[in-house]
Amino acid sequence: MLTIPTRGDLHKRPVETDRLALVPVDASDGHELWFAVNGSRATLQRWLPWVQYHTDPVSSGRFAEACATDWDQGRAVRFVIREKSSGSLIGIVGLEQCVHMHRSAELGYWLRNEAHRRGYMTEAARCCVDFAFRRMGVHRVRVAAATDNHPSLKVIGRLGFRFEGVARQAEWCDGRWLDHAVFGLLATDA
Ligand SMILES: CC(C)(COP(=O)(O)OP(=O)(O)OC[C@H]1O[C@@H](n2cnc3c(N)ncnc32)[C@H](O)[C@@H]1OP(=O)(O)O)[C@@H](O)C(=O)NCCC(=O)NCCS
Repeated sequence: MLTIPTRGDLHKRPVETDRLALVPVDASDGHELWFAVNGSRATLQRWLPWVQYHTDPVSSGRFAEACATDWDQGRAVRFVIREKSSGSLIGIVGLEQCVHMHRSAELGYWLRNEAHRRGYMTEAARCCVDFAFRRMGVHRVRVAAATDNHPSLKVIGRLGFRFEGVARQAEWCDGRWLDHAVFGLLATDA
């Protein structure tokens, strides 16, 4: 079984890196999420099929509420990424599809455009994977990125994931099929 610290515990003691705070997504984050997603819509929707469902602040609020419920029920662990210096919400990193029996989860992430190319996602995703292994008892983290999503593939490479294969036409996104490069990292990998 996985051990998932409560959102309350983590709100009191946020998971931190040098430049970032990772805080469980809360229902009250909906409004900021709307501005982040809507402001970077053109970039995000190329790779993330769910972006089209953020149609207004209310829909982003519903997503934020669902994140809180998913966390509490042990289905997914999603963190808002905040820049410590400004306090602003710059994106989300999380572990989707937490499977307690197999101690596995799937890494997912995005950044708003203004936060690209500063090493923030590598820093946040490394911290999230570390949280998975050390705090949750995850044995295997899977991550998949479209074979032409080069920024994401570079993040995955920097984290030390091992390439496992290509899942052909794995996702219908923004009017085209995405082939997914699939990677895994085990708690026992060096
Ligand atoms: C995927 C995504 C999060 C990657 O963002 P990114 O900004 O390229 O990644 P990082 O934040 O780790 O930044 C890395 C870059 O910052 C540069 N950088 C600049 N200053 C830096 C610093 N102080 N420390 C570290 N790196 C720094 C690095 O050299 C690197 O550039 P490079 O990739 O050209 O070598 C972003 O492109 C995104 O949100 N895309 C849309 C959604 C998406 O595709 N999600 C993933 C689906 S699988």
